[in-house]
Amino acid sequence: SSAGGADFYELTERVAEVEVLPGLRTPIWGYGGTFPGPTIEARSGRRTVVKLVNQLGEPTVLHLHGGHTPPESDGFPTDLVAPGAAREYVFPLEQRAATLWYHDHRMDYTGPQVWRGLAGMFLVRDAEEEALPLPAGERDVPLLICDRSFAADGTLLYPGLPDRPGVQEGYMGGVLGDVILVNGAPWPELRVARARYRLRLCNASNARVYELSTGGPMVRISGDGGLLSAPRTVRQIRLAPGERADVVVDFAGYELGRYVELRNLAGEGAQARVMRFAVDRDEPDDSAVPGRLSTVEALDPGKATVTREFEFSSGSMHGGTGWLINGRPFDARRMEARPKLGDVEVWRLTSDVAHPVHLHLDHFQVLSVNGERPSGPPEWKDTIEVRDAQTVEIVTRFTDYRGRYVLHCHNLEHEDMAMMAAFEVI
Ligand code: C2O
Ligand code: CU
Ligand code: CU
Repeated sequence: SSAGGADFYELTERVAEVEVLPGLRTPIWGYGGTFPGPTIEARSGRRTVVKLVNQLGEPTVLHLHGGHTPPESDGFPTDLVAPGAAREYVFPLEQRAATLWYHDHRMDYTGPQVWRGLAGMFLVRDAEEEALPLPAGERDVPLLICDRSFAADGTLLYPGLPDRPGVQEGYMGGVLGDVILVNGAPWPELRVARARYRLRLCNASNARVYELSTGGPMVRISGDGGLLSAPRTVRQIRLAPGERADVVVDFAGYELGRYVELRNLAGEGAQARVMRFAVDRDEPDDSAVPGRLSTVEALDPGKATVTREFEFSSGSMHGGTGWLINGRPFDARRMEARPKLGDVEVWRLTSDVAHPVHLHLDHFQVLSVNGERPSGPPEWKDTIEVRDAQTVEIVTRFTDYRGRYVLHCHNLEHEDMAMMAAFEVI
């Protein structure tokens, strides 16, 4: 609903039973009782208020991933909403159009709570993007991709869930499911016209990395932080947990009756199958992908006031357990950095094994990977996969809001095993 210069949504978290696998009932924790939660559509610069009502038996925290959000509404991992309680999150959305998503962010429990269903997509639209002739309406399709495992009776399996105690093999590396779901369904089919479609790909998996391919060209137009300056034609898209990419696929290049499969080249068997498109009709299509999409300001690392180091590594490297940043586990009271409002900073991220690193509050640009500049013009990101034994330098500017935020690994099990750091914008 909409009133008084703001849009209001209510998300009631509750246990529900849904049919994910044919003929079986799967108990989930859902925003509004669905998995994923409803797709929220919002406008840049228009305040969106989400009232979270917790009807679960456990505390929760709501976070808008990719949101430029004041600290009290950013879902700091210890700002809990208790069972039976409710609170309003205010999103001013002073940011560009982009494909965002929302999910639970409770300290130590994000992995299991997201696994049980607490995730959904959140689209920010703006006039700049709407002025472009990109595919829109029913040809603008959010695709929330995640993997899950199921028991024979349809219940979700997660190692170490309270009803399945004990950390099992594979937990340290992050929990992988053996079924890939798109918008909560395994191997779904979408009927499409011979026309261009915008597919908003969001990797909402706890730990799985995808290499997505339709077998043909895809035109990437947007990333975590909105439109690229120009489209890029690619054959596949690598997406680590938390990352998004919007691509335009032109189904006019396929014959009627064809199935076009979206596959995961990084998986085998069932983990390679994502979804398929049934090309079943002709329809007029006046959409286009212009050669220029937007203006992306390149942040100047020469303006940085400081370069900070963040080392992502296993606790065993430091004589401990879990996963750590700079050798320390997450402590909500310890600020790992205190950037000044308005400052540009360079953050140097190093890894032992691969970690998808996510920064709250402001988007960033990648300066270098192992010393090499990335190819192509700069783009805004909020999550970057730092692959095995890599050094990735990012540059960001801290804008608009003072307060506490977090930086963490978006492998949700790594995050829960303390690979997270708080920082305070002062
Ligand atoms: Cu997608 Cu800090 O989270
Ligand atoms: Cu986030
Ligand atoms: Cu990690």
